[in-house]
Amino acid sequence: METLFSLLTLPECPSIIQLLMLIYLFLLIFHHFWQFYKFSGNGPKTYPFIGCLISFYKNRRRLLDWYTEMLTSSTSQTIVIHRFGAPRTIVTANPENVEYMLRINFDNFPKGKPFTQILGDFLGRGIFNVDGELWRTQRKLASHEFSARSVKELMVNALHEEVENRLLPFLDKAVKDREELDLQEVLRRLAFDLVCKVSLGIDLCCLDPSRPISPLLTAFDKASEICARRGAAPVFLIWQIKRLFGVGSEKELKKAVGEIHKFIVEIIGTRKTKLIEHKESENENDLLSRLISAGHEDEFIRDMIISFVMAGRDTTSAAMTWLFWLLSRHQKIEEGLAQEVGFGKEENILLSYESLKEMRLLEACLCESMRLYPPISWDSKHAIEDDILPDGTLVRSGDRVTYFPYGMGRLEALWGEDRFEFKPNRWFIEPDKEVGELKKVCPFEYPIFQAGPRVCLGKDMAFIQMKYVVASILSRFEIRPVSPNQPIFVPLLTAHMDGGLRVLVQRRERKTGSSEPNQVIKLGSQ
Ligand code: HEM
Repeated sequence: METLFSLLTLPECPSIIQLLMLIYLFLLIFHHFWQFYKFSGNGPKTYPFIGCLISFYKNRRRLLDWYTEMLTSSTSQTIVIHRFGAPRTIVTANPENVEYMLRINFDNFPKGKPFTQILGDFLGRGIFNVDGELWRTQRKLASHEFSARSVKELMVNALHEEVENRLLPFLDKAVKDREELDLQEVLRRLAFDLVCKVSLGIDLCCLDPSRPISPLLTAFDKASEICARRGAAPVFLIWQIKRLFGVGSEKELKKAVGEIHKFIVEIIGTRKTKLIEHKESENENDLLSRLISAGHEDEFIRDMIISFVMAGRDTTSAAMTWLFWLLSRHQKIEEGLAQEVGFGKEENILLSYESLKEMRLLEACLCESMRLYPPISWDSKHAIEDDILPDGTLVRSGDRVTYFPYGMGRLEALWGEDRFEFKPNRWFIEPDKEVGELKKVCPFEYPIFQAGPRVCLGKDMAFIQMKYVVASILSRFEIRPVSPNQPIFVPLLTAHMDGGLRVLVQRRERKTGSSEPNQVIKLGSQ
């Protein structure tokens, strides 16, 4: 060091100084690029400064399949993405990594500010959008609510009313009038009605065609769409600037969130008065009444309810829409399923909590459909400290680490050569038997509901709901898509079918001597 210092101070040696400075500069640049590539791992073609912006832009309409292709060719099933305008992102389909981030080192992988910033204006400090102690408190409270048997019974009662009084008459009418309908939209409205009944204790009648669309539904649609676009924007700065000046989509978001808040706060006020005046807490089973009775603040209750509605509304409808589409392509499986759910029996099976639990083929079909079309196709956390994933991928503080259920559902290493085929039997311990015991699949290989301490709280409720609705429809009707084309899977906050699913509904008839072959379709890339 001393020699270097003395050399640098020698005025008579300009060439040595220049040479040393040149070497120093070279080492500095080399070090920078070495760091850059050392941390790049497998991933798309990446350039200094812009990162993979060019290939990202080229693949922007097929990001899921692009990521899946890269993950398939990565030996560690993990890729690293550098992109101008976004944090360094590690995308993994490696179950060991998934377990590490979701369970083993859970505390180092919270959702983090970049995520909570995107949804913060909409979800506030609701369970879906907080970390640390705030999350732990809400989780504890909500776990209690969800595990209560009464909530499940509440869901079955709400389902009974909604399905018997609205959905079935609605479908009957569609059969009679030979009317085409958008099944995805019907199921979305049904799910919204249900989640509002269970959480707010109110009936929004979204499935009733004679009633105007609820402003709450419209505002929820708008807010979630704009937040999803925030998350998908190649450069985040753009929405942040729009937000700063309150223009364009950000202005619309503010308006929609304002409407949601006003609506929910009014309901909280009315319910509080009712509970105080009539002491009805024992009869009111919905989440809102329970939160009020537990003495929580209005803002806390409001945000909790918004998260709950958000979590429960589009996920189940997306899963059911894809299942109906898949079944229309696999009519032999559909027939078997129709038998299981009661078609052909003298009386319709009573859909109780217990009988729904027993419908194993239906459970297998739902799991298989969500494997191929997960309602939440990717989910990100942000590392607090530097870390190393089990496959050796280096994680730096602030990195985004994304586990990727869509890609995982399509990995040969996890599901075999027939991974693109819809085969519900793979969910049975003995796949060759018609219906047997269901297999226990590792939740880190199939993280459709996430896994670990932050696993979906509504998983049981979601299965009850989906089973009830699918069973009620399949035991009476055949759903036939109007277009034979493969629908497009759009992964926004929750995934959906682009343009909906236009279908015709027919009464299910007994088929004499039917031996219709199974139409196996390859799903692959879209
Ligand atoms: C097929 C249906 C569903 C799927 C695939 C699903 C999936 C998920 C996933 C992946 C998460 C983690 C999200 C994250 O942390 O970013 C989650 C969280 C959650 N889900 Fe679900 N969900 C479904 C239905 C429901 C339903 C019907 C409800 C309630 C009515 C619900 C309530 C919740 C709640 C409250 C959380 C937050 C848990 C926490 O952060 O501790 N989910 N769900």
